[in-house]
Amino acid sequence: MERIHDYEPAPALLQGRVILVTGAGRGIGRTAALTFATHGATTVLLGRKVPALESLYDDILAAGGPQPAIYPLDLLGANPSDYADMAGRLGGALGHLDGLLLNAGQLGTLGPLEHSDPEEFVRVLHVNLTANYLLCRACLPLMRQSADASIVLISSDVGRKGAAYWGAYSISKHGIEGLTQVLAGELEQTQVRVNALNPGAVRTAMRANAYPAEDRRGLPEPQALMVPYLYLLGPDSKGVTGNSFDAQPQTPKS
Ligand SMILES: NC(=O)c1ccc[n+]([C@@H]2O[C@H](COP(=O)([O-])OP(=O)(O)OC[C@H]3O[C@@H](n4cnc5c(N)ncnc54)[C@H](OP(=O)(O)O)[C@@H]3O)[C@@H](O)[C@H]2O)c1
Repeated sequence: MERIHDYEPAPALLQGRVILVTGAGRGIGRTAALTFATHGATTVLLGRKVPALESLYDDILAAGGPQPAIYPLDLLGANPSDYADMAGRLGGALGHLDGLLLNAGQLGTLGPLEHSDPEEFVRVLHVNLTANYLLCRACLPLMRQSADASIVLISSDVGRKGAAYWGAYSISKHGIEGLTQVLAGELEQTQVRVNALNPGAVRTAMRANAYPAEDRRGLPEPQALMVPYLYLLGPDSKGVTGNSFDAQPQTPKS
């Protein structure tokens, strides 16, 4: 389990693998998709803003990565048939799916539950949790065809211990930890592994929204976290399942 931090990824670690990244347009998801592609993966870039995905597409090609696929989708509005359609298209176009990085997320408005907006609560739960369940459900038949498939669900410190005023976000990340354990148990006898990963405090827009007064200069950029992401999405973590990892060895509260 400790290997995740001192791991040294081979340059062509992900060659031949197809990896779908949600929330690929910016933040940690963008860096992860670019990193996977520069290690040889064919990436599927899922997000709701096409220009951001197109810009990433260009950056991947400029970096010498395999041609990615852009999959525009708003996780808030997508329904089970949209995900079934997506899995069918991916299978048809790419033949297999070896990795899912379920990274997209929304913070919502921080504050006491008593004063929260019920509609926003449902939206955050849907994007952060239900959409990931629907996506896994639709993609599993395709992933079972891979000789070695990995699902990574993105958690948070506040997904392990409920945090006052973090409302739907904290609750949704507890759901992510639960979804990871349930899926990992159900898939124990298969070649599909499932793990949760907590990025810790990272210099992104979400972090700035959560801590507007924080001095951001001390925070790591997404690029600094990529070793654990590569380990979990690549073949060297085969057999590792049902865990909740920290991307940073010691994470400040996030
Ligand atoms: N940054 C941290 O310190 C930190 C700490 C712990 C956990 N995390 C987790 O790490 C993950 C990435 O966070 P981040 O910091 O990179 O956040 P971010 O910069 O806010 O990026 C969030 C990503 O999710 C996408 N997204 C949001 N709602 C979506 C929807 N309805 N449909 C499709 N995509 C949607 C966003 O796309 P748009 O551009 O379309 O909005 C964006 O690409 C999240 O799961 C977050 O909870 C982050």
